[in-house]
Amino acid sequence: MQCFGACGRVLLVSVAFVAIFVASFVQPASSANILGVFLSPSPSHLIVHMSVVKALAEKGHNVTVVTLLKPKIYHENITNILIPPTETDQAKYESWVAELSNGKSNILHGLVVLLTTNRVKIDMQFEAYVDKRFTALYENRDNQFDVAILGYALNYYQLAVGAKFNCPIIVSWVQQPMEGVNALVGNPREISYVTTLMNAKATGEAWNFGKRLENYLFGTILKGVTLIIDHLMSGYYSKLTAVEPNLPTFEAMKRNVSLVFCNSHYSEGPIRPLTPATVLIGGIQIKEKPDALPKNIANFLAASQKNGAILFSLGSNIKDSHIKPEILQIIYKVLSSLKQNVIWKWENLANTPGNASNILYQKWLPQDDILAQPNLRLFITHAGAGGIAESTFHGVPMVAIPIFADQPTNSKKIVLEGFGVEVDFDQLTERAFRNAISEVLTNPSYANKVKAFSRLYRDRPMSARRSVVYWTEYVIRHRGAAHMQSPLVKMNYIQSANLDVYLLILATLFVVFKLLHLAWRYLWSKVFDEKIAKKPKEK
Ligand SMILES: *[C@@H]1O[C@H](CO)[C@@H](O)[C@H](O)[C@H]1NC(C)=O
Ligand SMILES: *[C@@H]1O[C@H](CO)[C@@H](O)[C@H](O)[C@H]1NC(C)=O
Ligand SMILES: *[C@@H]1O[C@H](CO)[C@@H](O)[C@H](O)[C@H]1NC(C)=O
Repeated sequence: MQCFGACGRVLLVSVAFVAIFVASFVQPASSANILGVFLSPSPSHLIVHMSVVKALAEKGHNVTVVTLLKPKIYHENITNILIPPTETDQAKYESWVAELSNGKSNILHGLVVLLTTNRVKIDMQFEAYVDKRFTALYENRDNQFDVAILGYALNYYQLAVGAKFNCPIIVSWVQQPMEGVNALVGNPREISYVTTLMNAKATGEAWNFGKRLENYLFGTILKGVTLIIDHLMSGYYSKLTAVEPNLPTFEAMKRNVSLVFCNSHYSEGPIRPLTPATVLIGGIQIKEKPDALPKNIANFLAASQKNGAILFSLGSNIKDSHIKPEILQIIYKVLSSLKQNVIWKWENLANTPGNASNILYQKWLPQDDILAQPNLRLFITHAGAGGIAESTFHGVPMVAIPIFADQPTNSKKIVLEGFGVEVDFDQLTERAFRNAISEVLTNPSYANKVKAFSRLYRDRPMSARRSVVYWTEYVIRHRGAAHMQSPLVKMNYIQSANLDVYLLILATLFVVFKLLHLAWRYLWSKVFDEKIAKKPKEK
């Protein structure tokens, strides 16, 4: 009888343990609600951010994303709130891209134009951020988010979502850590050996005086631009607080970032110290295994076994109409005369540059899946960061035709690393273009170097996808990551450079020196005066 009760309890407890044990294996980590705010009007940015949340949806989380553009990456458990820009804004944005692509341009010029004559890239994001379709999301009290991921691009007043939903914030940035995101997580500014965006240098090189001076000057200009941007962002944040006075200060929101995901990997350089809150997820947009190609592309590539194939794309920002007709004719003439087959990203299929049989025009193409094909021999690219990452991941050498923004710098890097050659877009000549293509196709050094890099880039303890899942769940589990925030985030320039301490030491040294000097003069005058006092007697 006694045994009955005791044994029953033991049995119950054991069953409970077994149940918990089994459950812990069968059930996925509990599903979190995740918000993505991806309002950048750049399609290549959206691909990176969507790849981040796709990894989370695949892990079983419930993801809601707010976007300006219709994402090309989908998942059943990603709900998209689409807030397209007004037609006027879209037209302004396109004319801005067209203007930049026609002039010789670098990131600095692009930024100056953006911040002065054409602020549409910033304004269209702000309009979407205060749009009813988005605000409805937080006005509905039933919506609870465990973490919000913000796609960073001239929009960090949007860090306010962390306060709106009372949830931790992760920032997603499409490139290597730079000035703006470094400030959010306290990465030290290492100007004597870490490149600024405008100033590509080969990795691993210790710079001489000239290079350090150049980097310092570029870095200072960039710092200035960053301060101007910060001032602008603060202005937009004030517009938010004007409507919602209970929002914390902008400074407080900037100190509230748990992690930054940067779409880069240290094998790309520069080698530099990063805080643990900087998580490198380089190549997140690249599939570990390519998807099957659309039938027409698969057939076209299958027919390219003998001479191999070339992919030509100027990216998603540049429309066909942005390319000058004479440049287009040169490109067509050279590509149509090659023995390789060419896949050409071209929007207007009703009006193509020409009908050569070795060219397949595609309005939209699965670039990553195409670059993964073994008979792809060359990628002719505008040197956007995303395309370069895919090309280097798959070990395909490049001919770069940089147009604007960060592309000229990316392109210099391709040349420096020996992954390909560069041609000038505005002054493109038939000869230069033909020579560039022929050089990369016939000299094996480019393919060898990029393939060697590919092996290093892929060799990691955790894939980019797994890093995203691990670190996002980490932030959710601990309700943020304040414990690993660098104190630098809360320090001003004087404190972080220790200037006040140096000043005190200098002042102390000065006072001590002054006192010693006075004491010495006093003693000396004592001795000297006595001598003088004695001397006149002898004379
Ligand atoms: C989407 O979420 C539901 C509910 O959590 C889950 O049952 C389903 O498997 C998810 N779909 C995918 C493709 O992961
Ligand atoms: C997913 O998140 C949205 C937004 O918070 C919410 O409305 C929806 O109910 C969630 N779905 C599930 C299955 O939890
Ligand atoms: C290419 O072919 C299309 C349809 O066959 C034709 O309308 C067009 O004029 C051709 N273009 C050129 C440049 O020959």
